[in-house]
Amino acid sequence: MKLSYNEIPEKYKINNLVNQEDYLVSGNLVNWKGDFSNVYSTISSTKEYKPTLLGKIPSLGKEQAIEALDSACDAFDNGRGEWPTMKVRDRIKHMRNFANEMKTKRDEIVKLLMWEIGKNLADSEKEFDRTVDYIFDTIEAYKIIDRDSAKFEKNSNIYAHIRRGPLGVVLCLGPYNYPLNETFCLLIPALIMGNTAIFKPAKHGVLLISPLMEAFQKCFPKGVVNILYGRGRVLATPIMESGKVNVLALIGHSSSANALQECHPKKNRLRLVLGLEAKNPAIVMPDCDLELAVNECVAGALSFNGQRCTALKIIYVHEQIVEKFNKMFSEKVDELNFGNPWDNNAQLTPLPEPNKPKYIKELISDAQDKGAKIINKNGGLSSENYVFPAVLFPVSKDMDVYKDEQFGPVVPILTFNDINVPLNDMAESNYGQQASVFGTDIDKLGPLIDTLVNLVCRVNLNSSCQRGPDNYPFTGRKDSAFSTLSVHDALRSFSIRTFVASKDNPTNKKIIKDLLNTKKSNFISTDYIL
Ligand code: G3H
Repeated sequence: MKLSYNEIPEKYKINNLVNQEDYLVSGNLVNWKGDFSNVYSTISSTKEYKPTLLGKIPSLGKEQAIEALDSACDAFDNGRGEWPTMKVRDRIKHMRNFANEMKTKRDEIVKLLMWEIGKNLADSEKEFDRTVDYIFDTIEAYKIIDRDSAKFEKNSNIYAHIRRGPLGVVLCLGPYNYPLNETFCLLIPALIMGNTAIFKPAKHGVLLISPLMEAFQKCFPKGVVNILYGRGRVLATPIMESGKVNVLALIGHSSSANALQECHPKKNRLRLVLGLEAKNPAIVMPDCDLELAVNECVAGALSFNGQRCTALKIIYVHEQIVEKFNKMFSEKVDELNFGNPWDNNAQLTPLPEPNKPKYIKELISDAQDKGAKIINKNGGLSSENYVFPAVLFPVSKDMDVYKDEQFGPVVPILTFNDINVPLNDMAESNYGQQASVFGTDIDKLGPLIDTLVNLVCRVNLNSSCQRGPDNYPFTGRKDSAFSTLSVHDALRSFSIRTFVASKDNPTNKKIIKDLLNTKKSNFISTDYIL
């Protein structure tokens, strides 16, 4: 087997560079006159391997970071801004306009997703469509929350009109593996709830924001969305150090989240919405449906080359069936097709991080040095931008692949004969996002599920781990997450309950009635949004 070059179809060739020459601040697309960084894809456009130049982005610095922060603060204006005080139905209109503009950019964005992060065509299209659906679902979820608030309560002679209000300025940083979807799963609910935002696109998957710059500028009032380009630490550090950020919304690594929190001088002012790394285990019981378990584990461990926070990153197989499991699993892995993202049936695709193949090879040799073997035929075959998934067995705790979140194409397998082995390992681990359990014996599954739900936040029964559907709570314990995301929960995460209370007396009654009739307040309203 060879990880070979295929001719690029005309439709997907890079004929024009995407040169991002401006950034968005205070409602202006500001033309940048300073330094730029080139953006390359690890996919080669020629038979002889060479990364492909895709375009360039501004290398902004501290001054522009503070400019964007000031713009977001001005737009929030300590709660007095047009956006945070706007009627809910009007904010929804802005958001709907944005989603409709976004829909017109599907082809450009999908093509850039493939080139920038190597995601295959079907998954790139899915990422785009899922994100547009997420926006419309968020609008519907917000309407439900708003309808529930369109009323007064009365307790102990006090009326209360309770709504959810914005928190302030949000710094939004997304990951490279879902540079559109996961970033927007933070940005969209943050905005619709009335916050203002500074957003820096992910390191890989940055040019795909370019087709949306004008839509961001056109669809939201000045300063509500500010978009910066450059290095995360350079831009995010001074923004956090200002103490003016109210929410750090980040999907990425806990080390970045910790470093950024540390910079904030007023910790109690800072709310965290974090989706972080994980080491989700699969536990394969002796009574499982083996074929189903193997199929789910292959997909769970290796879709998008394992570059998903929800990927199965360690597999525990009961020793009674490990031989059979390993054989079937290895064969299935070897059947996966490697190709460029647009190639027919490309299940494995180039890795977007130039250093990743080296790192994966290091994990493999470390495991081999400590006694593991590559048990699949093609495991470890490599090219400039890829390493074919290596299935490693038997893996032990002293190996780097046991400890690290590999976030790439390598699958560690361990055996157990006592269920407390994987459970103790999970309890010791720094992570607690999800787990998959494969089995059919309810006498064993019942108590196992009861423990697993207390170690992670989603137990997938005879199913691989995943984030979706987006209506379900997506969160984690320990270093895996902070706050909960889902269409509904994200709206809560980016807002706070705030209310108007009034003692029941004739003066207050009249004021409330008049406010409702004259609509002089956007907050006090019993309008039912259809
Ligand atoms: O990288 C983490 C993502 O949230 C995973 O989402 O399970 O839909 O691939 P997914």
